[in-house]
Amino acid sequence: MVNDTSVSLTTPVMATYSRFPVTLVKGKGSYVWDDQGNQFLDFTSGIATCNLGHVPDPVKEKLEEQLQNLWHCSNLYNIPNQQQLAAVLTANSCGDQVFFCNSGAEANEAAIKLARRYANKVKGSSSSLVVTFQQSFHGRTLATLTATGQEKIQHGFAPLMPGFSYLPFNDETALEQLTTLKPAAVLLELIQGEGGVIPANPEWVTKLAQICKENQILLMVDEIQTGIGRTGTLFAYEQYSIEPDVISIAKGLGSGFPIGAIIAKEEAAKGFEPGSHGSTFGGNPLATAAGLATVSHIIESNLLEQVKGKVDYLDQQLQVLKEKYTFIKEIRGKGLLKGLVVDINALDIVQKAITNQLLILTAGPNVVRILPPLTVSKEEINEFTASLEKTFQSIEKGA
Ligand SMILES: Cc1ncc(COP(=O)(O)O)c(C=O)c1O
Repeated sequence: MVNDTSVSLTTPVMATYSRFPVTLVKGKGSYVWDDQGNQFLDFTSGIATCNLGHVPDPVKEKLEEQLQNLWHCSNLYNIPNQQQLAAVLTANSCGDQVFFCNSGAEANEAAIKLARRYANKVKGSSSSLVVTFQQSFHGRTLATLTATGQEKIQHGFAPLMPGFSYLPFNDETALEQLTTLKPAAVLLELIQGEGGVIPANPEWVTKLAQICKENQILLMVDEIQTGIGRTGTLFAYEQYSIEPDVISIAKGLGSGFPIGAIIAKEEAAKGFEPGSHGSTFGGNPLATAAGLATVSHIIESNLLEQVKGKVDYLDQQLQVLKEKYTFIKEIRGKGLLKGLVVDINALDIVQKAITNQLLILTAGPNVVRILPPLTVSKEEINEFTASLEKTFQSIEKGA
């Protein structure tokens, strides 16, 4: 039993995170274990990363095989796993070409660089502007924190990168500004994850895509949190009537092995040529082994068909809780990316849940974020509901 969740550890690791006082040493499926042997139900999936659960067998086997053969070689040589993963990603999306990197921020960096270079070199345009949206989150590098529409992420890092503008999210009237701004690209999350699990409204997205098309603006979607099955389809854009020019992915792609990528339509991909972008580790044999095994497993096992039933079941359970606990104001999100909007401190709920052996997350001060693996079972959803209810009861009692 974990009792005290308020004390933080002192370590020589730089203090860039407020960590929960839990040391996880093992994981399998929907469960993780700490160094004291306590078992936790993990409904965070490493923040939408371990979409197949912890240490999934198909990925483990592929990684073990690759470990025997070749760990790394430079991108100056052909990498078969990279070619195959790119083929799977393009066969299952509207994109035609893939660039591999190591993280979400790097994927968005690649998208921003591609947009600028496409505008300047291919279109011959003087605009390098990238429009993003308020409350968005696109990463922590200088360009991607500038792209992020949240001052708290940018605070203290001035001077920020030039060439970004922000519009209000889900605001149809604000979209008119795109015709005068004439940006090189628009970058958006279809569900703002870190910003509070806020889905983009479909009519707004359709209008945005139409304006982008009419004005030759690249439409780039940041699917770093929503991609690789998280919202019930391989990519969230499939649930909107759009075909993005660029899709950025990371998190779930490697089941926990670091990898990121952008998938671009052939026309947008013309922005890059040999020498215009690169990465030592991007798409290396191990990372792309993990990516290939992950995406192939999702497709070949028809996992997303099974996810539909799990989403419905989880939705029903959350609805029952909402009816019982008045501090739950709204349930939002898509697929297995869920946000409970509460009018109490969401972090209190997350901290108390740890004492009930349940790991969940916040998304801002008033949203509890719930991210079970796509492989979650009905029994595990029942266990989650029981632990969350126990947590809510102790909060109501003021314990
Ligand atoms: C939508 C989105 N974009 C970008 C990022 C940055 O990804 P990374 O932390 O891998 O750099 C994140 C991470 O949470 C994200 O959710």
